[in-house]
Amino acid sequence: MTPRVARVLRRRREGPAIWTLEIESEATHAFAPGQFNMLTAFGVGEAAISLSGDPGKSGLLIHTIRVVGPVSAALAGVRPGDAIGLRGPFGAGWPMTAAEGRDVIVVAGGLGLAPLRPALHRLLAERSRYGKIVLLYGARSPRDILFRRELESWRRRLDIDIEVTVDHADSDWRGHVGVVTTFIARAAFDPFHAIALVCGPEVMMRFAIAALRDAGVADKTIYLSMERNMKCAIGFCGHCQFGTVFVCRDGPVFRYDRVRAMLALKEL
Ligand SMILES: Cc1cc2nc3c(=O)[nH]c(=O)nc-3n(C[C@H](O)[C@H](O)[C@H](O)COP(=O)(O)OP(=O)(O)OC[C@H]3O[C@@H](n4cnc5c(N)ncnc54)[C@H](O)[C@@H]3O)c2cc1C
Ligand code: FES
Repeated sequence: MTPRVARVLRRRREGPAIWTLEIESEATHAFAPGQFNMLTAFGVGEAAISLSGDPGKSGLLIHTIRVVGPVSAALAGVRPGDAIGLRGPFGAGWPMTAAEGRDVIVVAGGLGLAPLRPALHRLLAERSRYGKIVLLYGARSPRDILFRRELESWRRRLDIDIEVTVDHADSDWRGHVGVVTTFIARAAFDPFHAIALVCGPEVMMRFAIAALRDAGVADKTIYLSMERNMKCAIGFCGHCQFGTVFVCRDGPVFRYDRVRAMLALKEL
């Protein structure tokens, strides 16, 4: 439960009120795509924040933070050289082994791209293990698009299909406008041999799941990352508990058919 002290190396503005922190780590801090750390802003508090960097570079921990309240504001406001507290990594991540040999459809909304980014790095680093890879990403507006340069470089590859859409365009935007879930029906993948990784606001995940099921993807091959308020992150305090499930320990990534009922609840 005791956080260790970690040093912030860099801070980058990602979008309105969204910042990415690069944090120095012990070389041993390996993590699985989809896991999270508990980050402490000293004197303010602690928050669960997903790892958003490349799992192949475990010496550097990357977190992308949206300012919504006191802890996220303090974490996003740190400067290079500042110290923060860190516990983790925690939780069950994306099913990278189960995805092998299958088409992989990744559906992300807003900040939901952050926990999916390590999975995308892994998929592309081990490209030959997977079938088609499709990334569908929706942001509120062009200036809300995360990891823009990386998306551009991935777009130049021929072995991943990427569609980016915004809810509201500006005059410079030449891309798609509309909700990301409508792109699922048009995406080129084999629904009977696919695995879907979904992360975003819960309403977006509900629509994404409905569209995936309509397309023929089985419930047991749809995975989503759930966010619930967390305190201990080790299955001890019960804050994130739903029936026999602890989101911190058994999730945050779950197979859809196992958490259907939980998805209907706004907060525990
Ligand atoms: C597994 C997991 C991974 C997460 N990954 C990220 C991440 O990568 N980047 C990021 O910016 N945030 C992430 N979060 C959410 C983050 O933990 C909260 O935004 C943070 O704790 C808010 O603390 P605060 O003091 O800034 O705001 P608070 O004052 O605590 O909350 C501000 C508002 O946000 C709501 N809120 C707080 N925590 C949550 C939550 N967990 N789920 C839904 N609503 C919440 C509150 O109800 C309130 O309306 C993650 C949460 C979980 C559980
Ligand atoms: S946060 Fe304490 S049990 Fe999950």
